[in-house]
Amino acid sequence: MKDAACAGRLPRGLLKIISIKVLKIVTRIAELRSLLDGERAAGRTVGFVPTMGALHEGHASLVRAARSENDVVACSIFVNPTQFNDKSDLEHYPRTPEADRVLVEEAGCDVLFLPSVDEMYPQGEEEIIPRISWGLLDKVMEGAQRLGHFAGVVQIVKKLFDAAGPCKAYFGEKDFQQLAVIRRMAQDLQLPVEIVPCPTLRESDGLAMSSRNTRLRPEERAVAPLLSKALFMARELWPSHDAETIKEKVKALIAAEPRFRLDYFEIADADTLGPLREGQKNKAVACIAAYLGLVRLIDNVRLT
Ligand code: PAJ
Repeated sequence: MKDAACAGRLPRGLLKIISIKVLKIVTRIAELRSLLDGERAAGRTVGFVPTMGALHEGHASLVRAARSENDVVACSIFVNPTQFNDKSDLEHYPRTPEADRVLVEEAGCDVLFLPSVDEMYPQGEEEIIPRISWGLLDKVMEGAQRLGHFAGVVQIVKKLFDAAGPCKAYFGEKDFQQLAVIRRMAQDLQLPVEIVPCPTLRESDGLAMSSRNTRLRPEERAVAPLLSKALFMARELWPSHDAETIKEKVKALIAAEPRFRLDYFEIADADTLGPLREGQKNKAVACIAAYLGLVRLIDNVRLT
């Protein structure tokens, strides 16, 4: 679908040499679905990257991964109201539509889906949420701290998958629990979507890239890398220390910086997100969440 706009105006030889991309913007579900159905009918594969905007290099890395593995790349930007348990967080969520459009286009996106709230929630927000056998996946950590958050994520991602149709969908390990929840939903509902995990992109000082980082005040931004430092310390200690000792050390490290308020630090089984069983040390993931001023940050690392 690239080159479509200039196909009639440039000599064919020139078209082969240069590739002028045209980003197509759609706002309706039906339009997205029929456009991507057309691509699939022509034998082309589709990669899909759902986001909430205020995009950064972490998001761009997902788009690039989708670009490298598919013929057509679609991204969505939708600040989903149902996943915000804190209404002030929703109000303050950063919105940078013009810069987002440039970023996805430069990273190789072909189709940008920008639906309205009415388009995604025509019956209002009180709609049916798929029933899934979650186990502990949606109950621990983020599930315990942000009540209703994953119900909202599952609700919107199911709708976005339905709108995109069969595809590979790209998600960041930055939101490790979200990735696990979405993977379980796709398996349980047998959706025609392959979930592709992508590594966390970090700033040069270790801070995981996040749309929320822009809300940190300069003095908060200066101490923010302590979160990843705590995770890297846990990873170094893991071969020779037990989980309880590491938890104490991480808590002490975070407590030494009074600007932080720790929500949780957990060492969990990377598949179930429940407690690690004996002999499963190589399946461990360390997850952390903390407030820095008014901004809540999360991060994680695999311990092996
Ligand atoms: P958002 O926070 O915009 O993130 C969109 C995608 O980018 C998610 O898969 C997230 O894990 C990934 N991402 C964010 N920061 C990253 C980083 N530093 N490195 C790599 N990937 C990163 O997650 C959501 O939106 C929403 O919950 C959504 C799934 C779109 C549903 O509304």
